[in-house]
Amino acid sequence: MQKRETWSSRTGFILAAVGSAIGLGNIWRFPYMAYDNGGGAFLIPYIIAMLTVGIPFMIMEFGLGHKFRGSAPRIFSSISRRWEWLGWFQMLVAFVISTYYVVVVGWAICYFIFSFTQAWGTSPSDFFFKDYLHLTGSPLDMGGFNWPILGATALAWVVSFIAVFSGVRGGVERLNKVFMPLLFLLVLAFIGRTLMLPGAAEGLQWLFRPDFSAIMNHQVWADAYGQIFYSLSIGFSIMLAYSSYLPKKSDINNNATMTVFINCGFSMLGGLMIFGVLGYMAVQKGVAVSEVVSSGVGLAFITLPTAINLMPMPVFFGVLFFLALTVAGMSSHVSLTEAVVSTIVDKLAMSRKGAASVVCGLGFLVSIAFTMGGGLLLLDIVDHFINNFGVLSCGLLEIIMISWFCKLDELQGHANATSEFSVGAIWQFCLRFVAPIMMTYMVVMNFYTDLNKNYGDYPDAAIMSFGWAILGVCLVLAFVVSSKEMAFAGHTGVNGNFLRRR
Ligand code: ALA
Repeated sequence: MQKRETWSSRTGFILAAVGSAIGLGNIWRFPYMAYDNGGGAFLIPYIIAMLTVGIPFMIMEFGLGHKFRGSAPRIFSSISRRWEWLGWFQMLVAFVISTYYVVVVGWAICYFIFSFTQAWGTSPSDFFFKDYLHLTGSPLDMGGFNWPILGATALAWVVSFIAVFSGVRGGVERLNKVFMPLLFLLVLAFIGRTLMLPGAAEGLQWLFRPDFSAIMNHQVWADAYGQIFYSLSIGFSIMLAYSSYLPKKSDINNNATMTVFINCGFSMLGGLMIFGVLGYMAVQKGVAVSEVVSSGVGLAFITLPTAINLMPMPVFFGVLFFLALTVAGMSSHVSLTEAVVSTIVDKLAMSRKGAASVVCGLGFLVSIAFTMGGGLLLLDIVDHFINNFGVLSCGLLEIIMISWFCKLDELQGHANATSEFSVGAIWQFCLRFVAPIMMTYMVVMNFYTDLNKNYGDYPDAAIMSFGWAILGVCLVLAFVVSSKEMAFAGHTGVNGNFLRRR
């Protein structure tokens, strides 16, 4: 078996892990989630979710990747051949995410260029939906090709391709060593200038003003745990792949904790950035912050451009914001691509260069659908189902399998052996009880909601084909591939009985 590549340094690994975790989710999802779920009070469930699930899960994934030195299917099949399908399912979920996530990065690239002239004009909403996306009225009406978006998406795929094709050290690590410091500089410069604007403090007050009644709402807790999962890139094969390139003598527990803290700290910076601007905008318009806030794509591509139009240095703010969004999204996309490529290399005996070419080529072809006239609606449905059911179920199954069917003591011993500090009973308690209970609750509630009412009031045909069917296809494919895949069975380089309960 070929010798596995490793990160060149601890810093290189942490920057890559942080690069994966920090993404679109930190810049537009966290601020809105916090605002919508009780402002400052949301931070309490969020910090509890970070401590009880974020850090324990990250330590578990780093420990598994480090121990088994393989991608998700290899790790799970090393524990039990019957669980290999879960690794493939996680990989397929990562692949689907990579195909639409990259399109949003493509939009950010275009908006980065637009921000030099504020090409979105005086009506950013009309510009975004009509002039830029050429949005059709239904996800079933694909509309025509959109060459600027297709071009920007292709560019983003090329960047990921070069990073992954060039290897862990020469590509992924090198990219993150440039992108992460750049991202922090951009965001800090943006915040520094924003906080000097009139009204910025009011915006932050809106964000952080605690509404303690929200803490009694179970949905707020579910949102906090969901945000932690999505934002940390845990449960869908990425952190398993990244930690599989750790050298033998690597800290597990401290690296995991640092990654989580840096990611969550960055989310706070995302909050300062967005709400500082919204506060300024509200003051300029003479309305309350609640009147200018919006969520998701609207926040980044409509509300922010509207605010930038009103700002004293529009080019400075526009360029910084959209470059930061591009850089954050790009480093997460590289990690999604690497998770898929590492699986193909590990399990199908393909070279890294070959696997990177196949994955990026195929990924780009699938992405084309999301760049067309109906792309935003399609993306909205796929993202909803993949996040609410794919990512969460993958994480739930993984945690149940590891914490209930495996010997957690052995994994704990492995992680502690090379770490600067040790984990023990509390770590096990979080993994065995807190995480499965919270995640089961979220999955059940999500099923309940989606089975009762079509998400976003989309037509049945769209929900069936782009929601449930895509999940179903990933699941079936995972079972088919894992049952057929024999090439490397048993060649894991580690004792296959490790962790397995007898
Ligand atoms: N963790 C990545 C994000 O937050 C996927 O966007």
